Amino acid sequence: MGDSVEFDVVVVGSCNLDLVSTTTHLPSPGETVRAITYAEHAGGKGLNQAVACARMGARTAFIGCVGNDTAGTMLRELLNSEGIDTSQLVTVDAPTGRAFITVDASGENTIVIVAGANAHVGKTAITVPSSKVLLAQLEIPLDVVTQIFAQAQNAITVLNPAPAAEIPSELLSLCDIAVPNETESEAMGGTKYLLGSGVNTVITTLGERGAEISDATSTSAVTPYPVNAIDTVGAGDAFVGALCAELARGETIEHAARIASIAGALATTVHGATPSLPTRAAVMSLYAD
Ligand code: RIB
Repeated sequence: MGDSVEFDVVVVGSCNLDLVSTTTHLPSPGETVRAITYAEHAGGKGLNQAVACARMGARTAFIGCVGNDTAGTMLRELLNSEGIDTSQLVTVDAPTGRAFITVDASGENTIVIVAGANAHVGKTAITVPSSKVLLAQLEIPLDVVTQIFAQAQNAITVLNPAPAAEIPSELLSLCDIAVPNETESEAMGGTKYLLGSGVNTVITTLGERGAEISDATSTSAVTPYPVNAIDTVGAGDAFVGALCAELARGETIEHAARIASIAGALATTVHGATPSLPTRAAVMSLYAD
């Protein structure tokens, strides 16, 4: 693959305004709890992963939709300030996506997403620019992800199947690499099913236990990087973004996943999704060959 491609990583996905409360414990059904702190951050799995790629040094483009509102302007400015190409970030007549996030004292969280403008991705034509890696998640319409991956040309296609969903076999057959967590893997039928459906490599993230890489012939473990986690929101996005940035540098999947696992761990040590995404310098200072 030459360097004549326009971008290292193209991300097609969601962007949200994250409304984040911290509480002593997560509310039970019917329970009202008081927030200890409240903050608003840029978020959305697509935006977070694009920012993670850019902070890892990848030339990154983001394709998605924001609403014609203050949140939409804020998210566009954030992407631009990270050096991410937003020429295909479309402003639509719908509210910008929102995520209602609660994080408890142990770092556990719940997230409710309101799609808003994210449901409009694909309603206007998308031209996928050339890239080394093409990355998508599932907070935008599933059929749009399939159409985009079908346009991938020579790019490595990476699907982060989050939030969990059943994935049509046509989309699975277009994925080079799938990166689910354990819940998402189960929702899709497990590693064996995914590999049998045409995915070349499955990297299952296991939280503080690291990750597992499986292909048709072997399975290997990715060692976790030990940290004191305070907030796991965005950790999966840090992992996926770092993985894609390293693959775009030409690293092997095993090497890229080890670096991604440090990025994911570091992201759990800071509150908020985008504020927690580490730079490549921070990640590589902890990496030993
Ligand atoms: O993965 C974390 C993200 O999930 C949050 O930023 C929130 O917006 C939801 O999309």
